[in-house]
Amino acid sequence: MLTILQKKRLLPELLQNSMDIHCHLIHDIDDGPKTLDDSFHLVKRAMGLGITGFIATPHIMADMYPNTPQNISAQYDVLKQHLMEKDCLPKVFKVAAEYMVDDNFETQLNDKNLLLLSDRYVLIEFPFIQIPMNIEFIIDSLFALEYIPVLAHPERYRYFHEHGDFLTLLKQKGCKFQINALSLSTYYGNSIHKSAMQLLDEGFYSFLGTDIHNQLHLDKLSEIKVRKSTEKLIVPLIDNTRNIFA
Ligand SMILES: [Fe+2]
Repeated sequence: MLTILQKKRLLPELLQNSMDIHCHLIHDIDDGPKTLDDSFHLVKRAMGLGITGFIATPHIMADMYPNTPQNISAQYDVLKQHLMEKDCLPKVFKVAAEYMVDDNFETQLNDKNLLLLSDRYVLIEFPFIQIPMNIEFIIDSLFALEYIPVLAHPERYRYFHEHGDFLTLLKQKGCKFQINALSLSTYYGNSIHKSAMQLLDEGFYSFLGTDIHNQLHLDKLSEIKVRKSTEKLIVPLIDNTRNIFA
């Protein structure tokens, strides 16, 4: 029995001194924390799990969260100041955005007015219901402008579960993929977990992010246990994420 237990490790053990490039930490801006105090407690607890660097990535989504680089940066400044006053500023604390690929995104892209994860990397997401018609054009446009798209949680788009060829095409174009830590469990459902494990096994991912929005996400994340075989696949992603973005 003891041997079996020793084969799994708690995910937070692997996240020590890690860098989170996908998290909803900024208050009152999307479906993340509501108040400044909620943001403070979320950051504090995530740091308590061992994560030392964060790039906060609020949604930019025309019909739900019509944020802009300007209002995001202003709200980020407020939170950063609050964290400093609370003596809780992480070692790395930056801001970017998670861009929904919609018509508005095309405009922002053409204006080259994007909040980036770092010099060239842009975090993007797709609708959960269906893939945008013009997605190939958008991805090509991103590369033409010398951006590198990082697709958030490809495992969560159920339309790829049966038609993974499109992900292969995106990978061939140079698109990077980020797995959600919670997809290592069945938090989003069995099929999403299964897809995550398959994509992980096939070497699709480059980065790991938490996509935390609230305390429940941290509750669930802190309970995740990973097998040795999974650990071998995700530790390089955690290292790569730190190396590129910290
Ligand atoms: Fe997200």
